[in-house]
Amino acid sequence: MAMTCIYYDSKTGNVERFINRLRLQRDWDIQKIDQISQPLQEGHLITYTTGIGEIPAATLRFLEENSSMIKSVSSSGNKNWGPNFAMAATKIAAKFKLPVLMQFELSGTGEDIRKFIENIEG
Ligand SMILES: Cc1cc2nc3c(=O)[nH]c(=O)nc-3n(C[C@H](O)[C@H](O)[C@H](O)COP(=O)(O)O)c2cc1C
Repeated sequence: MAMTCIYYDSKTGNVERFINRLRLQRDWDIQKIDQISQPLQEGHLITYTTGIGEIPAATLRFLEENSSMIKSVSSSGNKNWGPNFAMAATKIAAKFKLPVLMQFELSGTGEDIRKFIENIEG
């Protein structure tokens, strides 16, 4: 089976903290989208929500080039944003025809990490 690849975007560190806890549990190939060095392999994207339910600009640029290599999208958000909670994943799913894997709060809970892994591994 091919190595599981994860691509992520993070501005204030919450997605980064989710990723760091994921790294403790799985030896996956995980790269930040602004630091990708090799040609892209198929993988899953985790990003966050900005503006009022918006996709971060760097995430959008990444998807415009690479969405054909992306198998699912997840977003961090904050439930204080009500109906716009983690809306970036919903918008990416519609725009790029991708499934939403997860929408979680801030850096996620242990349960969120467990569910994320379970969703990836099937
Ligand atoms: C300017 C700004 C706008 C935000 N807008 C939303 C939003 O519309 N919906 C949401 O769920 N979270 C929103 N958030 C919360 C972030 O998505 C959340 O803090 C996320 O964990 C940030 O990820 P990062 O720390 O990896 O950058 C916003 C945060 C900021 C600073």
